Order: sequence, then structure tokens, then C-alpha cells
Amino acid sequence: MNNGLEDVVAAETVLSDVRGAVGQLIIRGYPLSALAGHWTFEQTAHLLFTDFFADLPDAAEFAARLGAARVDVFERTQELLGPMSKLPAYDGMRAAMAMLPDDTALPDALRLLAAPAVFLPALIRMQAGDEAIEPSANAGHAADVIRMLGRSDGARALDTYLVTVSDHGLNASTFAARVVASTQAGLTSSVLAGLGALKGPLHGGAPGPVIDMLDAIAEEGDSARWIDRALDKGERLMGFGHRIYRTRDPRTDALKAALRSFGGVDARLRFAESVEQAALDALHRRKPDRVLETNVEFYTALLLEAAGFPKHAFTGVFAMGRVAGWLAHAREQALTGRLIRPASRYVEALTKDAA
Ligand code: COA
Repeated sequence: MNNGLEDVVAAETVLSDVRGAVGQLIIRGYPLSALAGHWTFEQTAHLLFTDFFADLPDAAEFAARLGAARVDVFERTQELLGPMSKLPAYDGMRAAMAMLPDDTALPDALRLLAAPAVFLPALIRMQAGDEAIEPSANAGHAADVIRMLGRSDGARALDTYLVTVSDHGLNASTFAARVVASTQAGLTSSVLAGLGALKGPLHGGAPGPVIDMLDAIAEEGDSARWIDRALDKGERLMGFGHRIYRTRDPRTDALKAALRSFGGVDARLRFAESVEQAALDALHRRKPDRVLETNVEFYTALLLEAAGFPKHAFTGVFAMGRVAGWLAHAREQALTGRLIRPASRYVEALTKDAA
């Protein structure tokens, strides 16, 4: 038995293939490098949804309907967001998403695809004492998020980010979403399962702590010393290591390229690269038999920081992209008609006398 189910194949999928040995990610036949920076998030979500919804329109109409879904979601929940804004942004977003209808048709999927993009900027603004900005049905998805955040720069970089994280094999949150879908529950239930799994620091919760690490190292002024101390205490360096990749995570370079499109990030990027190198040196020295490389979260942190998201909301932006994959996987799983129900091995004493 593998506690972490490593090497266990639990689903067949047409959606994505994580090629850990060679550091490649394939999404529906396309290498990530052909999509990130070239396709919009709407086009990528449309690609992921193909074959899983009977009435899927063409990509242009799909993008228009996603815009309309952003407006719909905002109008449905606007008055209920006040109490949600008292929660941490991720939890508020999850609570707001739980209010959406829980069915399996395309309109349900479009609302769920739209929801993180609507709720997260609204909650971030409300927490800062500002009013939420209404979505615009005609804007591009990423551009609308930047607009709803009250900013003007970074739409292209955010679009690249959302495409980059849209799907990634049977990661923990996607597996959770598929388990729920296998019971024939609705898409909202699957997405809520995905949101729960994504939150943890070993999965989608890492980029906020990456900023904490960079800030702490900047204050101390000595990367190697800070990193050695953290590793001596048995801590993990956020943004490094991966269950599947045995080489550099291919998403890292897609994000680094997008990050360069922001003006004024050169010094921050140079500093982050020096910390990255110090971390890789320390990890290679301490774990020579294990390949520990930079993962997607390291440059995610810098990109989302440059786009103007507060660090406590980074995981919510991850969900904004990954929700496309969760929805497609949930449909793919439900269409197999097979309940996921693994076995456990009972390791207690066989019988006990009643006290
Ligand atoms: N920092 C320090 N040590 C690390 C490490 C990291 N980021 N990632 C793995 N290791 C060490 C482990 O402590 C372990 O050492 P041990 O054998 O002495 O116990 C060894 O490398 C193997 O790690 P393992 O836990 O088997 O790897 P995994 O496949 O379960 O872990 C992650 C994958 C992502 C959970 C892990 O690398 C991690 O915790 N990374 C930091 C969090 C992060 O960036 N998450 C985002 C993932 S995209």
C-alpha cells in the first residue's frame, strides 16, 4: 500500500498528461508551451469542456456565455457577499460558491467557471473597505478580473497563468472533485471538494508562504543561512519539490516569461532568482538522491504579487484557473457511471471485548 497512492492509476482521462520524467505537461494533445501565452483562458476551458457537455457552443459563443455567466453570478449573490467578506478571501469565495445551483448542465458549469473570477476580486475589495466592481460581460475573462480588482495592468499575464494551471492530471484537488462526481452529485459539490483539497500548503496553498519566505530572506539578507536554518528545523521550502516531476516543472518557465511582461519587476525577479538558486543548492546538497526542483508555485507567487493580488488570495486565483479542469474531470468521471470506492486495510485488533 502507498499512503500517498503514488503510482496508482485511478482514472483514464483525455484531459491532461503530466510527464514527470521529461518535465512536460500535455493538455488535450497540446504541450503547455503551445497554449500558455497563445490561447485565452476561455479557449482553454472550451477545449477542456469539449465532449463533456451535449450543447457546447463554439469557442466564441462559449466566451460570450462565460461573460454573461460572470454577470449572472454577481447578480445572484451580490447581496449575500457582505457576511462572506468577513471570512478569509478563500473561505468567503468557497462559501459564496456553495450558494450556486448544484446540477450538471452547461449553465451550471459556466456559473462555476465564472464564480471564482467574480467572487475573489469582489471579496478582496470589500475587505479593503472598497465597493465590489460589477463584471463586464464583454471583457475577456482575465481582463475582467483585473478590472474588477480595480487595476489596469496584468491581464495578459493573468490569462497566461490561468491557462497554465487549468489542468494537471490527477492532482489531489482533481481527484477529490472526481470522487464526488462519481457519486453523481452535482458540479457545485465536485468543485467544493476541489476547493477544499486545493487550500492546503502542500497543494495550492504554497504561493502565499513563498512571499513570506522571500520577505524573511530579504530582511535577513542571507539566503543560504535562512534556508539552512529552515531545513535544519525540518521545514519544507515552499515552491520546491513535486510528486510527479523529476525535473523542472514546465509551468515554471511559462510563468517566469509572463512575469517579465510587467514593468518594474526586474529587481524583485533578480532577487527571487538568487533565492531560487540558493534553495536548489541546499536541496541538492541535502537530498542528493531525490530530484527537488522549482515548482509552479514559486513564480506564481511573484506573478500574482505583480498583478496586484494580496498574498492571502493567491490560492483563490489558483482555483480561478483550476476550476476549468475540475469541471471537465467531474463530467468525465460522471460519464463513466462508475462510483469511486477504494478499499482500506483494517489494522486494529480483529475483535475486542466490550468494556
Ligand atoms: N523542501 C524541503 N524538503 C523537501 C521538499 C521541500 N520543498 N519537498 C520534498 N522534500 C523532501 C522531503 O522532506 C523528503 O525527505 P525525507 O525523505 O528525508 O523525508 C523528500 O524530499 C521526498 O519528499 P516527499 O515528501 O516524498 O515528496 P512528495 O512527493 O510527497 O512531495 C510536495 C511533494 C509538493 C508535497 C513536496 O515537495 C512539498 O511539500 N513541497 C513544498 C510545498 C509546495 O511547494 N507545494 C506546491 C506543490 S505544486
